[in-house]
Amino acid sequence: PARTLVLVKPDGIARGLVGEVISRLEAKGLRLVAADLRTLTAEVAETHYAEHRERPFFASLVEFITSGPLMALVVEGPRAIEAFRALAGATDPVQAGPGTIRGDFALEVQNNIVHGSDSPESAAREIALFFPDLG
Ligand code: GTP
Ligand code: MG
Repeated sequence: PARTLVLVKPDGIARGLVGEVISRLEAKGLRLVAADLRTLTAEVAETHYAEHRERPFFASLVEFITSGPLMALVVEGPRAIEAFRALAGATDPVQAGPGTIRGDFALEVQNNIVHGSDSPESAAREIALFFPDLG
């Protein structure tokens, strides 16, 4: 089955939403493969978000994602990448539909509670970055 990297971002940790996020993905039928609470270094954050390096919000994004602990999860299941992106909702929480994680719990585009890999290539790269020991 496919695998994806999910992050409960520091805003989600601060608001106590780890259980909510895990409940939703488990209820959907996705399965946890790995989980780790950690605070990212700037180096890891910049590597993770390298595709956004030239964007005006990059420095702010790195500051946010390193601002406190996050929960890194590897999640597995049929079409896990698309399935979790559907659970998360649109990047901008105001555009995200009700019933999605971002739609239900967030209001600002940067502080949008969760990350999910956006392609098989991204998932492989991100899982290797966060969990190098995972086969
Ligand atoms: P991720 O799963 O976190 O990668 O979100 P995404 O794939 O839905 O969005 P994208 O990769 O385009 O952006 C990565 C992250 O950067 C978003 O989840 C937000 O946290 C943040 N972000 C995106 N756009 C903006 C913006 O316009 N301003 C700010 N401050 N942050 C943004
Ligand atoms: Mg993205």
